[in-house]
Amino acid sequence: MGADVLLGLQWGDEGKGKIVDVLTPEYDIIARFQGGPNAGHTLEFDGIKHVLHTIPSGIFRKGVKNVIGNGVVIDPIILKQEIDKLIPLGVNIKEQLLISKKAHIILPTHKLLDKASEIAKGEKKIGSTLKGIGPTYMDKTGRNGIRVGDLFEDNFPEKYKNLVAKHSTLLNFYSMEINLDELEKDFFEGIELIKSLNAIDSEHYLNNAIKAGKKVLAEGAQGTLLDIDFGTYPFVTSSNTITAGTCTGLGIAPNKIKRIIGIFKAYCTRVGSGPFPTEEDNETGEKIRQLGHEFGATTGRERRCGWIDLPALKYAIMINGVTELSMMKADVLDQFDKIKVCTHYINKGDKIDYFPYNIDNNVKPVYIDFDGWNTDLTELTEADTLPTELKNYINFLEKELETPISIVSVGPDRKQTIDNSKS
Ligand code: GDP
Ligand code: IMO
Ligand code: MG
Repeated sequence: MGADVLLGLQWGDEGKGKIVDVLTPEYDIIARFQGGPNAGHTLEFDGIKHVLHTIPSGIFRKGVKNVIGNGVVIDPIILKQEIDKLIPLGVNIKEQLLISKKAHIILPTHKLLDKASEIAKGEKKIGSTLKGIGPTYMDKTGRNGIRVGDLFEDNFPEKYKNLVAKHSTLLNFYSMEINLDELEKDFFEGIELIKSLNAIDSEHYLNNAIKAGKKVLAEGAQGTLLDIDFGTYPFVTSSNTITAGTCTGLGIAPNKIKRIIGIFKAYCTRVGSGPFPTEEDNETGEKIRQLGHEFGATTGRERRCGWIDLPALKYAIMINGVTELSMMKADVLDQFDKIKVCTHYINKGDKIDYFPYNIDNNVKPVYIDFDGWNTDLTELTEADTLPTELKNYINFLEKELETPISIVSVGPDRKQTIDNSKS
């Protein structure tokens, strides 16, 4: 009974979708609590790859309910595209997908505002996914937003018109051209689809389910270092990506949360702008990018690549109250003779082991080297068959992070997942 949480500890794309899919058979309900179609969660099984943006990653397991929580922002156009892909695969959307009436809607003009804001920032741009995330959350906190529940009200057309009028004034200020015809056609088709789905009071639904002994897994989007409060501000997203986001984004109280599974890559990546102390903007980074296929699941952009960063991971574990870890993409390091681990930073001449307020060019990583394993991990299935060098790497991380690594992932497929909880 209760809720578990699974979330990213780095800058997103850690492999959350894969592990949610792997763990779903243990749960009755999978619930997304924040973010929106800026997320791209990849699942692979039976030789096919699926990318989800708004829909939780439990959707492929029959009978499991998938909730889009109140903390999520929904683009009706993208949601419809996702659903249109799932229906031919036999997914029973009407049965399995539930949407909070309190989730906010991304309007076509939110996306234009996202773009205008990025253009105006010039070199200082965030590197947003341009999905309208920031402007939609701004309207939410500014108390101007449109929620799923509003779609069923008679005054929805008026609310929509008023908000678009407000956005148009802003877009004029940015000298941004507005041509909404095509976007609005798709938008209103998406709205009709949402109205045909199960819109619910998800906070009641989830709490009643927990009371009835059902198991809920909350699925995070983005990663801790992109959190609006604790990430590398301003180069962050506009929601709370951390465990606390589960409470606000689903209405699940803190004392209902049990396991908190933090996911990290055996190295580190970031897409978009902002500080990244262990970035390898060189041949090493390129090798990781090619071997790890590090290109965005949502935007196709190249992901910046580098070594694992323990001060950042320790920070993320602290903020989230992580109880166990999942180490992803270990196989990507199969062909490295030396693997670096950042244990400290040199910050303005001082050696520090914490994530500082300002991360700029003054913050330099301090590394220790590990021997690589030079072994193909992708066929391995048991923890005791892992090469000694990898076991050393895992043992070191567990000790430094003071948290057990219960899963080691060695490939994108569901099956390429090693239970490390008994070793
Ligand atoms: P998410 O946003 O956290 O769900 O992660 P993404 O789907 O954006 O990015 C993770 C990428 O790594 C996807 O292409 C996955 O298929 C892939 N992936 C996940 N786990 C592994 C792994 O253990 N090894 C390899 N090689 N790829 C993985
Ligand atoms: P998943 O859930 C990686 C990044 C963007 C940009 C910043 C702000 O797949 O891990 P936004 O569109 O949210 O205003 O962009 O955050 N970003 C992500 N990076 N994975 C994601 O999601 C991301 N969602 C947003 O690249 O730097
Ligand atoms: Mg992703």
